[in-house]
Amino acid sequence: MTILHIDSSISGENSASRPISQSIVDRLRQSSPADALVTRDLVSDPLPHLTLDAFADTSVLDEFLASDTVVIGAPMYNFTLPTQLKAWLDRILVAGQTFRYTEDGPEGLAGGKRVVIALARGGFYDQGSPASALEHLESYLRGVFNFIGIEPEFVAADGLAVSPEQRDTSIKQALGETIRLAA
Ligand SMILES: Cc1cc2nc3c(=O)[nH]c(=O)nc-3n(C[C@H](O)[C@H](O)[C@H](O)COP(=O)(O)O)c2cc1C
Repeated sequence: MTILHIDSSISGENSASRPISQSIVDRLRQSSPADALVTRDLVSDPLPHLTLDAFADTSVLDEFLASDTVVIGAPMYNFTLPTQLKAWLDRILVAGQTFRYTEDGPEGLAGGKRVVIALARGGFYDQGSPASALEHLESYLRGVFNFIGIEPEFVAADGLAVSPEQRDTSIKQALGETIRLAA
């Protein structure tokens, strides 16, 4: 089995999503030590914006297709995902490879993979909260992975910009949740 670990936070050592995605990978590897690990840091090794020419290079897609579990660190920037992560997704959603259009509508072709996403958000976006309409990170990622046939799992650290105490509490809670995911 192969785990693909993707990170997209620009915050380096101050990142919240990076230690949470790392903890998910660590837990998964504790329960399955033989699993191979491939890492892709989209900040230290960024992908360019998509161009037509870039479609000819399938290395990012091949890496995704070859993986059994994908762990993604996904911070919220300006209410959605970092552009670095979008550039990666632009290479994953490929008609005929991860989805296809049929007479009955679109069909996901990438089912069978496990995708676990570590979310880090400065605010709170629960349903009914004032900012919930601006939540375009979790909802977008769920929609995109559903589209290619995958039901992603999420571990979220929220309210990170509210106060240092809230940040500590939210990160600890998210790290604790990674135990459940490894089961
Ligand atoms: C450029 C930038 C934009 C941000 N935009 C938002 C935002 O729109 N909503 C929000 O709740 N938090 C926002 N934040 C706060 C981040 O979501 C929060 O700092 C989180 O910890 C980011 O994950 P990271 O620490 O792994 O980078 C933003 C942070 C940065 C650096």
